[in-house]
Amino acid sequence: MSRVVEQYRQACEYLAGGVSSSTRVNRAVGHAMLFDRAAGCRLWDLDGKEYIDLCCSHGATLLGHGDAGVRKAVDRAIERGAACSYENEQHTEFARVLCEVIPCLERVRFTGSGTEATMHCIRLARAVSGRGKILKFEGNFHGYHDQVMFAIGTPADRLGPESAPAAFPGSTGISPGLEQHLVIVPYNRPDLFETAFLRHKHELAAVLCEPIYYNAGCVIPSQEFITRLRQLTRDHGVLLIFDEVLSAFRACLGGAQEYLKVTPDLCTLGKAVGGGYPLSVFGGRRDIMDRLMPTGDCQHSGTYNGHPVAVAAGLAAVTAYRQPGFYEHIHAVSRKLCDGLTDILARHRVAARVQGLGARFGIYFGVKEPVLNYRDAISHHREMMLRFVAAAIRHGVYFHDYGGAPCHHGFCAAMTLADTDEALRRLDHALRDLSSEPEA
Ligand SMILES: Cc1ncc(COP(=O)(O)O)c(C=O)c1O
Repeated sequence: MSRVVEQYRQACEYLAGGVSSSTRVNRAVGHAMLFDRAAGCRLWDLDGKEYIDLCCSHGATLLGHGDAGVRKAVDRAIERGAACSYENEQHTEFARVLCEVIPCLERVRFTGSGTEATMHCIRLARAVSGRGKILKFEGNFHGYHDQVMFAIGTPADRLGPESAPAAFPGSTGISPGLEQHLVIVPYNRPDLFETAFLRHKHELAAVLCEPIYYNAGCVIPSQEFITRLRQLTRDHGVLLIFDEVLSAFRACLGGAQEYLKVTPDLCTLGKAVGGGYPLSVFGGRRDIMDRLMPTGDCQHSGTYNGHPVAVAAGLAAVTAYRQPGFYEHIHAVSRKLCDGLTDILARHRVAARVQGLGARFGIYFGVKEPVLNYRDAISHHREMMLRFVAAAIRHGVYFHDYGGAPCHHGFCAAMTLADTDEALRRLDHALRDLSSEPEA
């Protein structure tokens, strides 16, 4: 038995489900992967097998594992004593940098995870507006707190009509009745958005969205859709929140809001903002952020908020994203990887679409038309996707399967064009295996 499987079995004796996070079991292989070490774009599992990492810590490691600049910043923060729950000059410096590069940011707060960032943003929006409802889009994911754990992974037979998608809960144990505070609308449907928005505008505290819907692989909003969100929210005094936990720094320095040229009132940043360390951010217009205590009356506090090690790591990472040529490289790798994958899939006669933007992408097996929303995404051939992921892992390319809808995959800046060629060669071999396997 491999050490990975043996260790996973031992983990199951002590950790619930053998993991620290439920989605960490990779369904394609039936267990969590246990890695011994990581460097750049590569991972080595407990058996010493090497992989090119196309998960990249679910998007948290945009520079690559063990980046030297981040490591130096972390070492320095630890040498200084890593005194958490206190502020130092790096909090100010990092906040200033973020306000310079992200269009909507005039004031920010550091917090611990993407989940906390959206939770606090929603509280702030309710405090400022005095209203309770949040309009969210079907399938868009905003973390694991009760307020937003609806319509994130709705099974195909429970979706309800497009004009009124079901608020299907993403977990048991959610406080009864919370779904009444949500208005759910399909993504990329300006017509349905406008109808629902106008019906509920007097009750809405905010419209919350993934400005690039990476949680279904990679879905880019139409300009009409995203512009309509901005126009209607502005016209009717409803806050627009972009959840950029996954999209921040992915395709350009200013996040999806710079890419789409639409500036929200508030936004969240996560994953890449911490350079692989636990940090997230929420922020936006100064007048809104001033409602936070102690200047205002809305609470946001936490012992580990803005942990000095994570702040040092994040500042080093964002400084690296600002270097000339950083995004040119990301786009060159993205083009090579997405085009190369599309070619290989076609050569092996596997019907699949690849959609990518910047450093993340989705693969939709059995789908021909562009994927525009959650319903399109879940029409994919899930069994085929699982077989592909399992074969890729056997051939030394790590993709993660989260269970359910098509996943987002991605690469890091440490991946060179030569590494990309190598990943494509390995995936070519994986697909050759699949063509010779009997269908499950
Ligand atoms: C768009 C979005 N928002 C929020 C979250 C939650 O972030 P975290 O896992 O750091 O709590 C995620 C996580 O994947 C996400 O993709």
